[in-house]
Amino acid sequence: MRKKILLIFISLIMMVPIFSTGSKELVIGCSVYKYEDPFISGTRAVISETAKNKASVIFADGLNSQTVQNNSIDNFFNQKVSALIINPVDRASAGSIIRKAKELNIPTVFFNREPFVEDLKIWNDKTYYVGSIAKDSGLMQAKIIADYWLSHPEADINGDGLLQYVIFRGEAGNQDTELRSEYCLQGLTKRGIKCDKVASSTSYWNRAKAQNAMTSILISKGSSIEVVIANNDEMALGAIDALKVNGYFTNDKFMPVVGVDATASALQAIENGTLLGTVLNDSHNQGRAIFNLAYELAKGNIPTSKSIGYTISEGRYVWIPYKIVDKSNFREYIDKTETIGL
Ligand code: BGC
Ligand code: CA
Repeated sequence: MRKKILLIFISLIMMVPIFSTGSKELVIGCSVYKYEDPFISGTRAVISETAKNKASVIFADGLNSQTVQNNSIDNFFNQKVSALIINPVDRASAGSIIRKAKELNIPTVFFNREPFVEDLKIWNDKTYYVGSIAKDSGLMQAKIIADYWLSHPEADINGDGLLQYVIFRGEAGNQDTELRSEYCLQGLTKRGIKCDKVASSTSYWNRAKAQNAMTSILISKGSSIEVVIANNDEMALGAIDALKVNGYFTNDKFMPVVGVDATASALQAIENGTLLGTVLNDSHNQGRAIFNLAYELAKGNIPTSKSIGYTISEGRYVWIPYKIVDKSNFREYIDKTETIGL
């Protein structure tokens, strides 16, 4: 009899979920726009690392299709997860997600692709966005380029006093594409540098696409390019791949290229002298803030700056600062990105 009671007791203990508040297991559903994006996969790694021993996070790949993503979000709704973390394929889809989440009482944290504020307001206190102020990264790219341009008169290859540039963009309408592009140019203009666009390529954040595009641009306009601006490191590295094939970065043939993210490969390129500079898009702190917010919400709490360890602005935003990364400081960031497998 005692043995039987003991067995029942043990099996009861074993039935208690590992991550619990009260009796409910905390399951958080996380849908990202596409696994196959090095920056996003880095953030994903930080989210699952931060979640350890707290909650189980189920990840879903949106495969860059809003329809696929909507299906996986519906699955999360059906499973009645305690909270959602969404990196939307299309930021304009946030409104309908939030409406449904509100109906089902499932709080949501968006990241990386910023929903319109009218959408975030549909469900105050239960809808958040974690990201970085896109405008700042553009201004920081401008500073890296301006410092180089103003201290290297030979960079004006054709000597016309204008900076001939090629720009690689993410998809149109994405806040990072639009604001990084706009403010990088604005930052240059404000410093009195007149810019002249040689070519622009929408390369969807992708290295191979940027490499192909740069190869064609080099064929048609090669000698007139004086700087390459890329909305992210992957596209900057793709442009560098093409430049290398065309004899750049050997025998003093140089092209200033700037990116955003500070991925491990970008830091390596700074070390090798191919990438002039980049801007840290801090997936480490973004990932932590995302999970901490979702965790508080999943427990039924209204998050505070204190409870999540990051400042919440206007009741719905967590902004993680960008930082300039170049030859002078890239070593500080090496370990950070390596541990999250970027
Ligand atoms: C990152 C890119 C990434 C994109 C995805 C940007 O913030 O800089 O590397 O591909 O987000 O939306
Ligand atoms: Ca020029």
